[in-house]
Amino acid sequence: MSTERRVTSAAIRTRKGRPFPVITAYDAPFARCVEAAGIDVVIVGDSLGMVVLGHASTAPVDLVDMQRHAAAVARATKRMHLIVDMPFGSYETSGADAVAAAVSLVKLGGASSVKLEGGTRAASRIAAIVAAGIPVCAHIGVLPQTAGIDAGFRRRADRETLLADARAVEAAGAFAVVLEMVEARVAGEITAACSIPTIGIGSGLNCDAQVLVLHDVLGLYPEAPPFAKRYAELGRVATDALRAYADDVREAAFPPRSDANGRNVEGEGTYTIGGIA
Ligand code: KIV
Repeated sequence: MSTERRVTSAAIRTRKGRPFPVITAYDAPFARCVEAAGIDVVIVGDSLGMVVLGHASTAPVDLVDMQRHAAAVARATKRMHLIVDMPFGSYETSGADAVAAAVSLVKLGGASSVKLEGGTRAASRIAAIVAAGIPVCAHIGVLPQTAGIDAGFRRRADRETLLADARAVEAAGAFAVVLEMVEARVAGEITAACSIPTIGIGSGLNCDAQVLVLHDVLGLYPEAPPFAKRYAELGRVATDALRAYADDVREAAFPPRSDANGRNVEGEGTYTIGGIA
């Protein structure tokens, strides 16, 4: 068993005022890349629905999806703090339902903390989950789970409401708050008004931290939002690699021909899966 400790929510709180990177992750291979890159705060977001599961929105994502993908990220990493999204439908009905869902994400998903959407309207749920001993990251501004009935995906600049939302989630006990698509000037005011770190996405530079969706950063999702920055084109690299493999097979260039005695020459030795050689 690993003795390395994960970054705690208390440690993240102390980063207020010092910019730090946050990124999403949903599976073991990319979680390993994220940890190797020195990023120690990860959101297992319900953006999973679009960028990994192929849904059109986050709405179909359920608790089992979140538990399974969070657990994969947890198994592959040692130090990073795992903020796991509570999916739509898992916390709206009652405080008791919200606590039960959050507990399941800790027990089955290895969550270090959970995240849920909503400001003033979500404050009682945040307080209930925190009282149960689970740290909560809040999420205000554009709320993808309910964008259809809220303000949609337009940048938010309604200063009074957003400031009230930020104050409500801080008072409810959140250790950090995601600001999604908030006008930079208002995001700066919220950041100055709150003692907890703000984690911006599409909200300008005046936040304590920044988060982006992994697949947008790596060029693996064709419908990335306009504020996302692509740092690589892994979709193109993967397609080129797969085309080269397909060409090799069609041209009988892979695997290599056996030797004169009919023995395989494509790599010697055994390999191990699950400890079985
Ligand atoms: O679902 C998600 O990926 C998120 C982050 C981008 C903040 O909520």
